[in-house]
Amino acid sequence: MSIEHAVAMFRHQAEACAELGSPLSAALLHRAAEDLAAGGPCAAAIAGHEDAPGPSAVALRLLGAVHALVISGRAPGLAAHYPSAGGAFDPADPDAPWPAFRATVADHLPWIREWLTRPPQTNEVGRANLLLTGLAWAQHRLAQASPDAAQLPVRLHELGSSAGLNLFAEQFRCVSPGFAYGPPDSPVVLADAWQGEPPAWLRDAPLQRVVERRGCDPTPIDPRSADGALALRAYLWADQLPRLERLNGALALAARLPAPVEPIGAAAFLRDVRLADGTLTVVWHSIMRQYVPAEEWRSVEAELDRLAAASGPSAPFVHLAMEPRRVGPGHRFLLTARLGAGPTMMLAEAMPHGLPAWTLEPGDPALAVDQLP
Ligand SMILES: C[S@@+](CC[C@H](N)C(=O)[O-])C[C@H]1O[C@@H](n2cnc3c(N)ncnc32)[C@H](O)[C@@H]1O
Repeated sequence: MSIEHAVAMFRHQAEACAELGSPLSAALLHRAAEDLAAGGPCAAAIAGHEDAPGPSAVALRLLGAVHALVISGRAPGLAAHYPSAGGAFDPADPDAPWPAFRATVADHLPWIREWLTRPPQTNEVGRANLLLTGLAWAQHRLAQASPDAAQLPVRLHELGSSAGLNLFAEQFRCVSPGFAYGPPDSPVVLADAWQGEPPAWLRDAPLQRVVERRGCDPTPIDPRSADGALALRAYLWADQLPRLERLNGALALAARLPAPVEPIGAAAFLRDVRLADGTLTVVWHSIMRQYVPAEEWRSVEAELDRLAAASGPSAPFVHLAMEPRRVGPGHRFLLTARLGAGPTMMLAEAMPHGLPAWTLEPGDPALAVDQLP
């Protein structure tokens, strides 16, 4: 067992947290890395997981386990430092939470070791920003082809739904300076939705009418259960309050609207999806492609092709994806859309959590990318 490997993983994750806007998580993981090297409580907490590869994200499991204790009221001393629990964190004094964090780990080892067996799983409500943009684009294209047609009711199907919260997307309100889309009284406000002008088809889009919502995920989280809601909150970073507020709003919607998420993979789910007259059938997904085995993804593509071939004016089909794509040396989070059997269009780009989004300038190399990595 190599504690050096674990220390390196924790430091790497700390740097990623700093880059992704969570100075609290970064500070805690830097100190936790030192604690691992010194054989402190964090070393006891992760014993047996020292050699876990990077994608296992042991550091995030530890952060999530401790965050769950904080938000369920079992670590009041640490809660005073966690904004998600009403506490305060000052990035100018990054070590202030550490003694309480260390004590919490030492006091709750069995709880934390049980949480370390779970892969972190989130459901990023902000990604609905791009998915809705794609939906508005599809409705706009359909209206252009048949101007007299009323906007079609929508049947939403989501692959890799996690807790299924983005199946409520049309209930969210997206806002940025000079722009708002979605119900004004929504409990979910996606602020800073657009950097620069949103696409014209979104600015002019009427509200969507969703008549069916279904998703799939091999390990769905039940957003109506106390355990499910705790897990979703715990894996958010404690100093990123807008994410927590969005999640809380979406959990309130989940409590009153049905959106079943079947406990199966994407290919098996799609086999039962059919188009229906007088509705727009949507299959969408965000940041799940990389988790699907290659063979299963081939079946997913075959099912999407079947639906595309069946698409027509009275029962259209659109496939929308917000996925990372390799562009040059890096990855970018891009929205693609394919209406019926038409070409795949690259519509917009966003930060990994969907906010903000921006349109692509002519000549952007991302416009030439048509294959997933
Ligand atoms: C990073 S999460 C994204 C969840 C959600 N789409 C979002 O954007 O918040 C990836 C999800 O893909 C799911 N997943 C993994 N393998 C899958 C498969 N074969 N079919 C469908 N979903 C899968 C995981 O369980 C996980 O919930």
